Amino acid sequence: MYDGHGLCLHVARHIARVSRCERLDCSSINSVAPCDVRPAKHSRQRYSGNPRTIKKSDRPVLKKVAVNQLTVGMFVHGFDEGWLKHPFWRNRFLIKEQSRLRELQESGLQHCWIDVSKGRDVPEEKPQGPAAAGLANLKRPPEPKREPVSLSDELERAAQLRARSAEAMRRMFTEVRLGNAIEPGECVSLVDDVVESINRHPDALLSLARLKTADEYTYLHSVAVCALMVTLGRQLGLDAAQCREAGMAGMLHDLGKAAMPQEVLNKPGKLTPAEFEIIKQHPLRGYEMLLAGADVSEGTRDVCRHHHERMDGTGYPDGLAGEQISLLARMGAVCDVYDAVTSDRPYKAGWDPAQALSQMATWKGHFDPVVFQSFVKSLGIYPTGSLVRMRSGRLAVVLDQNPSALTKPRVKLFFSTKAGLPMKPQVLDLAAPNVVDQIEARESPDNWQFTYLTELWGGDAALRQARG
Ligand SMILES: [Fe+2]
Ligand SMILES: [Fe+2]
Repeated sequence: MYDGHGLCLHVARHIARVSRCERLDCSSINSVAPCDVRPAKHSRQRYSGNPRTIKKSDRPVLKKVAVNQLTVGMFVHGFDEGWLKHPFWRNRFLIKEQSRLRELQESGLQHCWIDVSKGRDVPEEKPQGPAAAGLANLKRPPEPKREPVSLSDELERAAQLRARSAEAMRRMFTEVRLGNAIEPGECVSLVDDVVESINRHPDALLSLARLKTADEYTYLHSVAVCALMVTLGRQLGLDAAQCREAGMAGMLHDLGKAAMPQEVLNKPGKLTPAEFEIIKQHPLRGYEMLLAGADVSEGTRDVCRHHHERMDGTGYPDGLAGEQISLLARMGAVCDVYDAVTSDRPYKAGWDPAQALSQMATWKGHFDPVVFQSFVKSLGIYPTGSLVRMRSGRLAVVLDQNPSALTKPRVKLFFSTKAGLPMKPQVLDLAAPNVVDQIEARESPDNWQFTYLTELWGGDAALRQARG
């Protein structure tokens, strides 16, 4: 069975279990048609680097090995831990690159299963003694230095980056409307800054970028999709250069909207079929602009053209299906829709982040299930800013994620449903020992009249962004 699909169903079931929300109005992202899932056909490559270790039988030949015995070329067959406890989006995969090997070695896992019929075996004679330990250490490149910061500290920096990026996109859109050539140079340094912010604290910029004022929507949407693409790329195991390319693609994916009539683009309501036909031209227009002169990668152009394609072939402009759609474009499709549905628009309030994930999980045929599953893992099942109900009956907002336990973020308790009264806000790390309270379900903010949720999770920095 296709592993990723099975895992995705696991995620969908989990999310559906905590979802209380009705079928939605999808007008803001221009129709979502329920249909059968057609997961991408993922080819199973066989390792050919060491023919001595390949067995001709299709039956797996499994060995349990210590994670520090793994090398490039080995085929991982599974983990003892459930997928929620390890950071990989598949249980079975060939270790093709050092970066993937490093992820395994730094994952905190102790053992895993390898299939030596599909990849390299462990050496029969292992070097012994202190010299071997030294060699093992040499194989690991030095960890990039990261400066751990608190959410509140990074929110302040992320607010400045968000403002700078939006301003840069505003200038770029203006230049395009004036008929001038695109200069993506400034975007390169902005994408680097986005990557650094996400490295310091992934929840800060992602959460702030979700808050948009009406007149900034198009520009901030570009910044948000950039940040989401970088985060998703990291989750999928892309290397640093690929993550930067994904970020650049997110930043420029809607450039073609600069060529759309302003009255249609900014219409405060649902588009007519004729208006929608006009807007559907923006991927192709953006692609042509980037092709005409901008110094950007083929992957960036591809996302610009294909971020509205769907796995079942019902998207536009080219009606591509399954693996005809590049990985970057499949990532773009997920990030684009998530940001669109979680953003407030003049005619529709944005969905709560957890509500958005639960709804997107039900849209069969729209997204690559493996990419979507990784997206959920990258944000958490309850992303920052989600309103949740605890088993104790208290309500809380999610502050930030615990990477090793998707269902146990750090939350801020603020309301007692039993008493029907606000309570003194209290931060609770659900992954900490001795904490017995747990999230029971996400709670729809529509059921309450809270006006201070943004302030609760993001403090002054978030409040300023929300007010514009
Ligand atoms: Fe678009
Ligand atoms: Fe978009």
